[in-house]
Amino acid sequence: MTTVDLDVIAVGELVRLRRKRPRDAYQDWTWRRDVNLAQLDAARVTTLSFEQFRNQYLWQLDRSPAYRSIFAVEDLEGRHIGNVMYYNIDSQHLDAELGVLIGDRDYWGGGYGREAVALLVDFVFTMTALTRIYLHTLDWNVRAQRAFAAVGFRDCGRVRRGRDRFHRMELRREWLWRREYQRRGIPRG
Ligand SMILES: CC(C)(COP(=O)(O)OP(=O)(O)OC[C@H]1O[C@@H](n2cnc3c(N)ncnc32)[C@H](O)[C@@H]1OP(=O)(O)O)[C@@H](O)C(=O)NCCC(=O)NCCS
Repeated sequence: MTTVDLDVIAVGELVRLRRKRPRDAYQDWTWRRDVNLAQLDAARVTTLSFEQFRNQYLWQLDRSPAYRSIFAVEDLEGRHIGNVMYYNIDSQHLDAELGVLIGDRDYWGGGYGREAVALLVDFVFTMTALTRIYLHTLDWNVRAQRAFAAVGFRDCGRVRRGRDRFHRMELRREWLWRREYQRRGIPRG
């Protein structure tokens, strides 16, 4: 008999996305303490002890705040390799910001990040009313920019925050139709 994992929201050729679980807390804490990972995302490393982090984490998991949704990225063997999320959900402007972290370096540059992002984008445009997804990536984080561009995100300007400069990139719901045209080989225009 085949068992269905109800936590899984999307499956691709390399990764699947699933809802977060309490036991993800330790892995997430180690990624949040990693200085290099924080630099790539212009983030601060957490100064919380594991116990403090876990308490906060479980509190958020229980309440599932309305302004963000976060999913674990697993390889097809079930190894937790990262996270992907949409947040700053704005139900008036129908948009949200996207964030991704492939924390396990062994998986960088192998197409895992781009597939995780594409699966999340597909989920958001299919399952919610949102019509635009945007993101900010540091101007020197070329690997991230290329991965986002490969999904279909387009550069739409620069943003400065303190000493950091970011590329702002976005994707609109039409992406779903463009992708369908491409799949069926139908020329556009
Ligand atoms: C950014 C991230 C999600 C991308 O996922 P990924 O699986 O590593 O990326 P992909 O393999 O899908 O694509 C990487 C692209 O960058 C290129 N690339 C790989 N290593 C590179 C490097 N060191 N420098 C520049 N480009 C690089 C690849 O050739 C590929 O581009 P191409 O398809 O045009 O050839 C992932 O690397 C990650 O989470 N990194 C750490 C945190 C981070 O940077 N987060 C983003 C914050 S906005």
